[in-house]
Amino acid sequence: MALWGGRFEKGVDAFTQEFGASLEVDKAMAQQDIAGSRAHAKMLAEQGIISEDDQAAIDAGLADISGQIERGEFAWDVNDEDIHMAVEGALTRNIGTPGARLHTGRSRNDQVATDIRLYAKELCQHLIEGNDALRRVLVDVAEKNFDVVMPGYTHLQHAQPVLFSHHMLAYFWMFTRDHTRLVAALDAADANPLGAAALAGTTYPLNRQRTTELLGFSRAIPNSLDAVSDRDYLLDLEYACSVSMMHLSRLCEEIVLWSSTEFGFITLSDSYSTGSSIMPQKKNPDFAELTRGKCGRVYGDLMALLTTMKSLPLAYNKDLQECKEGPMDAAKTLSDCMEIAAGMLETMQVNADVMLAQAKTGFTAATDVADYLAKKGMPFRDAHRVVGELVLYCEKNGKGLEDLTADEFRAASELFDDDIAADLDPEGIARARTTYGGTGHAAVRAQLEEAKAVL
Ligand code: ARG
Repeated sequence: MALWGGRFEKGVDAFTQEFGASLEVDKAMAQQDIAGSRAHAKMLAEQGIISEDDQAAIDAGLADISGQIERGEFAWDVNDEDIHMAVEGALTRNIGTPGARLHTGRSRNDQVATDIRLYAKELCQHLIEGNDALRRVLVDVAEKNFDVVMPGYTHLQHAQPVLFSHHMLAYFWMFTRDHTRLVAALDAADANPLGAAALAGTTYPLNRQRTTELLGFSRAIPNSLDAVSDRDYLLDLEYACSVSMMHLSRLCEEIVLWSSTEFGFITLSDSYSTGSSIMPQKKNPDFAELTRGKCGRVYGDLMALLTTMKSLPLAYNKDLQECKEGPMDAAKTLSDCMEIAAGMLETMQVNADVMLAQAKTGFTAATDVADYLAKKGMPFRDAHRVVGELVLYCEKNGKGLEDLTADEFRAASELFDDDIAADLDPEGIARARTTYGGTGHAAVRAQLEEAKAVL
């Protein structure tokens, strides 16, 4: 008979039992469940609600079960609906009456909320560490390839030369924002629902501040209805994961492009590539693609929980049982993908000569040539048109701007002098962008220091 079986004359059939159970998913938070129970029992004893002896028996019994679960020796029973029933049932079988006193002044509703919050805090902490590791790699790669010049793009068309390090650091700042979101998700989870009981609080003189302290929460939740029915912190976590996966998908998309024959900007390490079962020459960026693809499931996890939560009346509803798997999946996926991305970046070869050669094509100097005229007094709009016509002339004659003779330049405008040559070099063009946050060497050096300070 289930622990709640008193008012029932018959049980559910096996399939219905299985349909209603959450034990398989709950197993991941077994240790959190036990920690919550130990804190609850300790507080109950301190408040004189159960005896010291009962508390000591409960504590030892739970410690024993904790060890059994950790060692994989715990005898799981498929008839247990969830982790709370499994642990409490085993405890009572093992130690008798004191075990049956554990659930005093508590409901599975505040218990499950406590377990999930403790678990979510750990997920956030783990993700924050993974995020830090990835950002450290980005800073490293930027530093090691500091001077490498590549074409910067808009619309995936050559735009202006930028430093490769600048490009890497753009991702650093994206992941820094993800870090902020993960810290916020951790803070959202960091509130104690225990003591809310089923929905309304309890008549026992519980000390909610004490369990808050014992479980390492920063605060107690001030409303019992909200305490048992809030899952916003899981949405926060899933949203943080989703945005970070989106950032990873952008990075991985570039890795896929850059490792293609057409780009050739990078060569992925063999340890982050796969071959083809039919085409002997193939070296595929599978892990970048897979990371890009896994974005979908994490967005799905977020959408699933948003939908589960929609229109739920207060307070606890069984729908809430569906809230656990998604965040676990989202966190595991992001954690794995961050690790893969860090490994790919760390081991890839940066083909500086190819990047530089490409930075010279596609008229990436055009803006600077227009700026040259504007600095000599021509209104920028006019300069833009003059250089546009020069580009058209070059295209018709199969030339780059750097191939034009002094006479050809002067035919476009009297303002051109021999010193225009200096404004055609991608390295110099990048260097000249000295504004804060720009791609000039000095600005990127300062940015790199700022990034390191943030880390
Ligand atoms: N297995 C449930 C869950 O995961 C625990 C809480 C159940 N409470 C209840 N009154 N049925 O949400």
